[in-house]
Amino acid sequence: MAKGRLSSRRSPAGEAEAVAAPGGGGGGDDDDVDESKTRKRASLAARLARNVSTRRCLISAFLFLLFFHLAKFISHSPHRFCASPSFESVPRTTSSVDSIDGLASEFGFLGVPWCRSKHGKTVEWTSKDLLKGLEEFVPIYQNRPVKNNKDGMGFDHSFGLWFMTRWLKPDLMIESGAFKGHSTWVLRQAMPKKPIISISPHHPEKYLRKGPAYVDKNCTYFAGKDFADFGSVDWECVMEKHGISDLSRVLVFFDDHQNALKRLEQALEAGFRHVIFDDNYDTGTGDHYSLRQICDQLHIRGGGHCCSRYCDEARIRERRKFFWKKAVDIDDLCGTGDAWWGIRGHMHDDFNRSSEAISYYEHVRNNMFVESVLDVYWELPPVAGPSLTHQTRYDPARAPDPIIEDGRFDLFRKPGLTRLECAVFNGYTQMVYLQISRLLTVE
Ligand SMILES: C[S@@+](CC[C@H](N)C(=O)[O-])C[C@H]1O[C@@H](n2cnc3c(N)ncnc32)[C@H](O)[C@@H]1O
Repeated sequence: MAKGRLSSRRSPAGEAEAVAAPGGGGGGDDDDVDESKTRKRASLAARLARNVSTRRCLISAFLFLLFFHLAKFISHSPHRFCASPSFESVPRTTSSVDSIDGLASEFGFLGVPWCRSKHGKTVEWTSKDLLKGLEEFVPIYQNRPVKNNKDGMGFDHSFGLWFMTRWLKPDLMIESGAFKGHSTWVLRQAMPKKPIISISPHHPEKYLRKGPAYVDKNCTYFAGKDFADFGSVDWECVMEKHGISDLSRVLVFFDDHQNALKRLEQALEAGFRHVIFDDNYDTGTGDHYSLRQICDQLHIRGGGHCCSRYCDEARIRERRKFFWKKAVDIDDLCGTGDAWWGIRGHMHDDFNRSSEAISYYEHVRNNMFVESVLDVYWELPPVAGPSLTHQTRYDPARAPDPIIEDGRFDLFRKPGLTRLECAVFNGYTQMVYLQISRLLTVE
């Protein structure tokens, strides 16, 4: 009997066990209990217990769903009032913003602004060419004379400059911003026999007194007492001296931290067609108005920004600051009157020495001008994903897909990239190549 009572209070599994036991065993009164009744009573109780637990489950599930949808509604509702076109489009690899914003390396997730060219032309080289180029460049880079180029170019941009110069094969190279001469050396590796003109307030030989620097034998230096800003050089005269009649055979490289709009106008004025900007800072960062900043417009994915703290963008950007030193949050991005363009609504120039507030209208007009003279706009991708390079500075969410994607250790090791110090991968700032041509004016 005791067994029978016990079995009726058991769970269905216990019940089955009790029922299977041979009729209480051992003899006595209890042994005479009608088995079928015991079974019936036990299964009824079990069903009741099951119903109660099912109902509990249903109530919990209902409450959970209610809470979940309420939370989702609260967290998403401000987004509806935000003019944030960057987040209207679905991220490339997942369907939900929430599932991805904590990830450390999701390339281009926050959008990669770019400028549209006149005829939609792009570069001839492919990612295969870039990969092949890496294999060639790593051993060259390992022999660089300036091993410590802090405040100058790191590996990514050195590779980009070398690769593009070798591809374009210019008859003359002009560089503005030489520092210790590392970029002059990179240009020389790409084109061993062609002349270089290097412009910099301080001659690189000045740095030789303190440590390694590079001074080129086939380079005309507009430096030290001969310094003249790119914008005030008589290029017609200089080109004539160098026997250059076709300006499309000249490559101009800017690493002088000047307003890129100013430099672009000066290069156009002189008639140059191929221009590379080393530092192409993202909106809200850097010390000069950059091409990337100019291209950051409402009609471009990742362009235009929402200055409300309740926007998805603000929430995502804030979290990304934990991962990446140079990630930009809403405070970096937005100035007075929610001005998000340039740097909090300002156009910076000359290493932040000057800063001019510009209206949104002026910012749009600058973009229209740039796009009207643009034949090609191409941003160099980072060399490899951060799980390989261990870079900690730029936010991949605002960068194009790397040449070697995260996880491809085989591709990273093959060209010898594992042999380079991690620090050399910390200088990526979206180097950009432009092909430009003058606006045709109707007389
Ligand atoms: C970031 S460093 C250049 C680094 C160099 N390209 C490298 O990686 O090897 C910037 C350089 O621009 C120079 N500079 C400053 N104003 C300049 C100007 N108006 N024209 C040309 N260079 C300028 C600075 O003196 C400095 O040497």
